[in-house]
Amino acid sequence: MELIKNLKWRYAAKKYSDQLVSEDKIDQIIEAVNLTASSCGIQPYRLYVITNPEARQKLGEGSFNEQIYTSSHLLVFAGFNKITNEYIKAYVDMMEQQRNLETGALKMLQDTLIGYFSPQTTEQNVIWSDKQAYIGLGTALIAAAELKVDATPMEGFDPKLFDDILDLPEKGLHASVIMSLGYRDADNDYLASAQKVRLPIDEFSIKIK
Ligand SMILES: Cc1cc2nc3c(=O)[nH]c(=O)nc-3n(C[C@H](O)[C@H](O)[C@H](O)COP(=O)(O)O)c2cc1C
Repeated sequence: MELIKNLKWRYAAKKYSDQLVSEDKIDQIIEAVNLTASSCGIQPYRLYVITNPEARQKLGEGSFNEQIYTSSHLLVFAGFNKITNEYIKAYVDMMEQQRNLETGALKMLQDTLIGYFSPQTTEQNVIWSDKQAYIGLGTALIAAAELKVDATPMEGFDPKLFDDILDLPEKGLHASVIMSLGYRDADNDYLASAQKVRLPIDEFSIKIK
């Protein structure tokens, strides 16, 4: 499988060169994330793609991750703060349209989702949205590896700063996790040539037959 080769090639880059990733590749990574799975299928996060140098400099303040501003592109996975009834209704409407169903055909699904999410606290909604955003992160990592684009998934950032700079609370969002994209500076990144460290496969995976 080509994917295994690509996953062995990838690593969490610490140092990036000045080379920029083409918009075509960025668009393919975005599409891969849009196509990935989410629980209930309602995609409760948005993906910000940031290149603006000043914004990225500010976003990186106080973080040990210089990749925030030295990479080519920065992805911000921004989870929903609340799964609202309005959002569920709009999403189910879109499902009906995209599947050429009559209006109201998916009313039972809509009611089930509203019945499930509406009694939940904001904290529960945020935790759930973050989990879905992390699935997007994993997909973006794999997509980048397939395109031979380097990437760094990162939790080492100031979420409050990201929320403020990107005006996320105003949009009902918060910064869940981030990822940089670019090309490794192999000469200056000690990890570029380091052996990948992973558990022996039999210790990691338990097969119950
Ligand atoms: C959710 C998540 C958060 C991470 N946060 C950071 C980070 O803030 N800075 C960083 O340099 N690497 C970060 N990493 C990268 C991990 O350290 C790296 O994936 C791990 O050491 C395995 O190495 P590899 O990805 O190079 O194979 C993060 C990885 C994940 C999945």
